[in-house]
Amino acid sequence: MDQKLRVEIERLKREKEAVILAHNYQRPEVQKVADFVGDSLELARVSAGVKAKLVVFAGVDFMAETAAMLNPEKKVVIPDPEARCPMAAQLPPQLIKEARKRHPKAAVVLYVNTLAEAKAESDVACTSANAPQIVNALEEDTVIFGPDRNLAWFVQQRTSKRVLPLPENGHCYVHRMFSAADVALLKERYPDAEVLVHPECDPEVQQLATHLCSTSQMLRRAKASPAKRFIIATEVGMLERLRRENPGKEFIPALESAICVQMKKHTLEKVYLSLRDEKHVVRVPEEIAARARKTIERMLEISGRVTHD
Ligand code: 13P
Ligand code: SF4
Repeated sequence: MDQKLRVEIERLKREKEAVILAHNYQRPEVQKVADFVGDSLELARVSAGVKAKLVVFAGVDFMAETAAMLNPEKKVVIPDPEARCPMAAQLPPQLIKEARKRHPKAAVVLYVNTLAEAKAESDVACTSANAPQIVNALEEDTVIFGPDRNLAWFVQQRTSKRVLPLPENGHCYVHRMFSAADVALLKERYPDAEVLVHPECDPEVQQLATHLCSTSQMLRRAKASPAKRFIIATEVGMLERLRRENPGKEFIPALESAICVQMKKHTLEKVYLSLRDEKHVVRVPEEIAARARKTIERMLEISGRVTHD
């Protein structure tokens, strides 16, 4: 069945001049048919330069919105429109407007894990791969940062600016599942292992990391490192790619049950149907897109459009 779908997907891609972009947490069978697999920053960069007529985006809502906003003249479709990041929904635009009134001199930096309507109220976007770089490039001494409070903490450790998390308790339910006690136990059991942790994890977990990385930075670190064993604290989908691309190395999940159910909504069959029927089209009203696009463009200007971080 998968093989038949794969053949059909390849044929449709050629016929429609389409590309499939997929996030690192996607199911392995979806990653296999993708033309590009990456983290949020890489996906934004690739989206900004995409040549195809049709883009099938296998990721969550805010990622597909970013691709749509960067390509207003192209059709961007998402295989399952229910693939919505719950963290992105934690920051409604009204909260940003109120925070700006409280801190009129502060810049607003938003994690890409936000909806377009929130981005439209911000000054610049960032991802887990470039958040400290973006914050440090700004003139303002105070930064309102949302919605992930753990990423805000990570940034605060790497800047002399004042970082104000917004909302106070914004978080990713998947990365909050990791416990420092579990990671410490694994470190004791595997003292030779490098510990790669995503900065959406709690500060106590971050403090146990050898390296704090976005998903693609994990991949680059695992490839470059002389270590043979790694403890991985992020969504478990990442481990499949790490294993596939580093056959001689061992990857131990810090928590087997850390699964983002929203990311996993895209099955191979849904990818096929969305490509065949050109559904479900991602639309962002232009008055919002025009403002939100600028924040992504500004991020890409600061952090570079092509280089690796
Ligand atoms: P990355 O940008 O590191 O891939 O992270 C995206 C994400 O949603 C993590 O939960
Ligand atoms: Fe959102 Fe967390 Fe899933 Fe990433 S892992 S898409 S932040 S819920």
